[in-house]
Amino acid sequence: MSHAEDPAGSRRDFLYYATAGAGAVAAGAAVWPLVNQMNPSADVQALSSIFVDVGGLEPGSQLTVKFLGKPVFIRRRTPEEIEAARAVALPELMDQDARNPNIRETSADDANRSLDSEGEWLVMVGVCTHLGCVPLGDAGDFGGWFCPCHGSHYDTSGRIRRGPAPENMHIPVARFIDATTIQLG
Ligand code: FES
Repeated sequence: MSHAEDPAGSRRDFLYYATAGAGAVAAGAAVWPLVNQMNPSADVQALSSIFVDVGGLEPGSQLTVKFLGKPVFIRRRTPEEIEAARAVALPELMDQDARNPNIRETSADDANRSLDSEGEWLVMVGVCTHLGCVPLGDAGDFGGWFCPCHGSHYDTSGRIRRGPAPENMHIPVARFIDATTIQLG
């Protein structure tokens, strides 16, 4: 379909959102609210689950999948990343809430954020809790993620450690259904 055949309004709306985000975004970062315009309605979303094969993921690497219109980071952490995350005492954290709907514990200790008890798997909604950019992996002052939009640093547990973001990156509803498959939702 050529641009001239676009339904009235759709292209204009797209350009509006793309332009609105551009001023606040550094190179390499995406503005996720742009994509929210295309998401299914909430009742459709509530029924959704996806299954992710993580069998090929090496320690120290990460998959990003799209789930409910947002990026989800699935990281297989190295022993060093786990150790760094677990060495942090709660009072050092800016946000002491685990942000994890899968468990009852609410403290942001790393054990309450990783998907498995050994801490090898970290699954997070990859959206900066400041204004919604997508943070970059293997970056920042704490060896985790860095959001270049306004300079938020997250540690190897995805917890906010410096910068304007108010909350740790959120954990989605997730579980292992077998040794190599994670169900989101
Ligand atoms: S959106 Fe502002 S620091 Fe990430």
